[in-house]
Amino acid sequence: MCVMTYLDYSASTPTSLTVLEHMHRIEREYFANINAKHAFALRSKEVVLSYISKMASLLNIPSESLVFTSGATESNNMILFGLAKSNPHKRHIISTSLEHHSVISPLGELQKLGYELDFIPYLHGKLDLEALKKLIREDTLCVSVIAVESETGLVHPLKAIKAICDDYGVPLHSDMTQAVGKIPVDFNNVTYASFSSHKIYGPKGIGACVLMKDDIRPLIYGGRSLSKLRSGTPPNALIVGFAQAVIEALEDLEVRISIVTQLRNQLTQKCDALKIVHVNTPHVGVPHICNLSFMHHDRHELVNQFSNHGFYVSASSACSGQENVSKAVLTVSENMDCATSSLRVSLSHLTSESDIDSFVQVIKKVIQ
Ligand SMILES: Cc1ncc(COP(=O)(O)O)c(C=O)c1O
Repeated sequence: MCVMTYLDYSASTPTSLTVLEHMHRIEREYFANINAKHAFALRSKEVVLSYISKMASLLNIPSESLVFTSGATESNNMILFGLAKSNPHKRHIISTSLEHHSVISPLGELQKLGYELDFIPYLHGKLDLEALKKLIREDTLCVSVIAVESETGLVHPLKAIKAICDDYGVPLHSDMTQAVGKIPVDFNNVTYASFSSHKIYGPKGIGACVLMKDDIRPLIYGGRSLSKLRSGTPPNALIVGFAQAVIEALEDLEVRISIVTQLRNQLTQKCDALKIVHVNTPHVGVPHICNLSFMHHDRHELVNQFSNHGFYVSASSACSGQENVSKAVLTVSENMDCATSSLRVSLSHLTSESDIDSFVQVIKKVIQ
């Protein structure tokens, strides 16, 4: 039987066992509708709020700035469309060409409604912040920049971008899905952010917006709930599971970063020694994403070949299509051969050194 080696942790992660235990307790003991008014509802609400409060305190944000959604896709849509609704006269948006589809698609929809879009250019793999200054206009609704690009792990300089946005009085939205719980983040560097539970060992079907300013209009209307922006009965166990996943990720962040950095170095050193693999990961990259190119090999074909050997990696982020050229790899490497033959290997503190060794052995088999 083929042993499975999962190296696609940026697409999704297994739910932590302790997270599942917390969720199980909530489902059995605190399942009341927390919008109700009786004592059991109030007890359930108190327990859920205590998890939210610990999560917010570790994220260093007020609890009220968190709005729970079904995931980062909904959060990105909520922020972009919600902002558009609250500022109907601002019809210009600035973003990057490397956003996740959950930002690209709503931006495309806004464009169909008459919004003008501009993209900050890249200079040798880095965002050109001087160009950003020139793009900002009187009617700019927001700047939207992904914190960590999901295919190459490129980290964008949010602090510097926020300083520019502040100078011009424009809010900054950031999709922080590949950053929160993986690297240190500071929500003071954004006006609005989104992230997701299933990327950090929490359950699927829940994510959050972080709203450092309370000025967007809701997309979903209904009765009063935890937030006026997202009506509906809050999913107690999902919220608790998500909060617990954030707590575990942040309390263990340094250890996880250290393990993953070592694994990434082990992988890149072995790949360098092979001389048949090109490492695309940028210098300003996160440790958990390693992008490799296998010159003259089709990247989608490679995913299948590795999969046949029981190694699960991605050609790109799970929500993108079957593009033959990786825009992200082309941007960081400026090399078309790299961009047509690249794979994303995404690592976890659950990955072992022997997983990496076996993967390198399979690389030799597949490529030679
Ligand atoms: C950068 C980024 N943004 C958004 C998403 C969407 O997250 P969710 O699956 O929670 O909707 C993902 C997940 O693929 C992602 O990697």
